[in-house]
Amino acid sequence: EKDGYAHYMEKEIHEQPRALRNTMTGRIDETGQKVIFPNLQLSSRSVKQIEKIYIVACGTAYHAGLIGKHVIESLAQIPVEVDVASEFRYRRPLFAKNTLTIAVSQSGETADTLAAMREAKRNGSAVLAITNVVGSSIAREADDVITTNAGPEIAVASTKAYTSQLIAFYLWGMYLAQQKATMAPQEIAALLGKLKELPEQVAEILTHAKQLRHFAESIKDERQLFFIGRGIDFAVSMEGSLKLKEISYIHSEAYAAGELKHGTLALIEEGTRVIALSTQDALHEKMISNITEVKARGANVLGITHEDHLDLHRTVDDVCLIPKTDALLSPVLSVIPLQLIAYYTSVVLGNDVDRPRNLAKSVTVE
Ligand code: M6R
Repeated sequence: EKDGYAHYMEKEIHEQPRALRNTMTGRIDETGQKVIFPNLQLSSRSVKQIEKIYIVACGTAYHAGLIGKHVIESLAQIPVEVDVASEFRYRRPLFAKNTLTIAVSQSGETADTLAAMREAKRNGSAVLAITNVVGSSIAREADDVITTNAGPEIAVASTKAYTSQLIAFYLWGMYLAQQKATMAPQEIAALLGKLKELPEQVAEILTHAKQLRHFAESIKDERQLFFIGRGIDFAVSMEGSLKLKEISYIHSEAYAAGELKHGTLALIEEGTRVIALSTQDALHEKMISNITEVKARGANVLGITHEDHLDLHRTVDDVCLIPKTDALLSPVLSVIPLQLIAYYTSVVLGNDVDRPRNLAKSVTVE
C-alpha cells in the first residue's frame, strides 16, 4: 500500500504531481483560458460583492492560508485576514456585510476550524471550505466546497494536502479576479499556463530528491535551525519549519528576513544552520543583504532559489535550485525541498516518520 516507498510521507511527497493535476481537473475551461467552478452555490452576483475575506485554519492549512492571502489580494484586490482557527473563535472578529470566510482543512474534521467557521456563519458570513475530504463535517456545513482531490493523506505530516490547497487558492483567486475584472483575460490565461506547468516542475525537483538526504545528515545533530524569507517565501519558511519540528524534533524558527536584526540575530553564532528562501525577483537584493548579515555572524546557509538568481552562490554555502515559475506560484516548488529535508532528517534520526510523538492526524478535540 506504500507503493514501494519506505513511508507514507515519502509516498505522498512523490504523489504531488498527480495530486496537483487532480486539483486542477474540471476547473479550467476547455479553451484553457478561464477558471470554472461548475457546482458553486454562491451566485456570481454575490461573488462580485465580496469585500472582505477571512481565512481560518490550523497548522499546515493555516500556512496555505497565508499564501492564499497573497494570492487573493494581488489577483482580486480583496483584503484578506488569515487567522489561526483557535484564535479566531475566541477573538470576536468584526463581520462587515459581504464577508466571505474560507475554512481550510485537509481532514475537514478539525474541531477549531469547524468552530471558527460556525462562528463566521452565526455572524452572517458565507463560508467556503477548501478540504480534501468530501462529506467531512466542514464540507457538509459550508455553503460551498472546493475539494482538493489530492487522495487520502495518511502521514501525520501534511505534504500533498498543502500543495493542493495552494492550487485551490490560485484557482479561487483567479476566479474572483474574473468576476471582479481585476485581471485581463490574457493575464489569467498566462497564469493558468504557468499553473499547468507546476506538476511537471514538481516532478523534476523530485528526481533529485535523494540529494537532500546529505543535507539532512548534516543537520541531524543540530539543536536549532532558522528558516528565513520575505513575502511569500516567509510563509513557505513557516511551513518548512513546522514540518521539520514535527517529525525531526529539532527546534527551528521561521523568520521574516527583515526582522532578524530586531532580535533573532542575537542567536546566530559560528556554525548556526540557516535555510534561506529567495524566489521573489523583487526581494532578491534584500535577501542577499539579510543572508550577508547572518553569514557575518558565522552562519552556514543553504539558499533555495531558481536559475535567475545564481549569484546567490557567492553569498551562501550551498544552493538548492528549483525551476522558475511565476512569483506567486513559487511556493508549490520551494516547499518541496523543505518537505524532503524534514522527511530525510526524520529518517536519519530513526524517528517514526509517519506517526510523530504526541500528534494525531486529525485533531477533533479543542
Ligand atoms: O486536517 P486539517 O488540515 O484541518 O489539519 C490541520 C493541522 O492539524 C495539520 O495541518 C497539522 O498541522 C499537520 N500535522 C502539519 O503537518
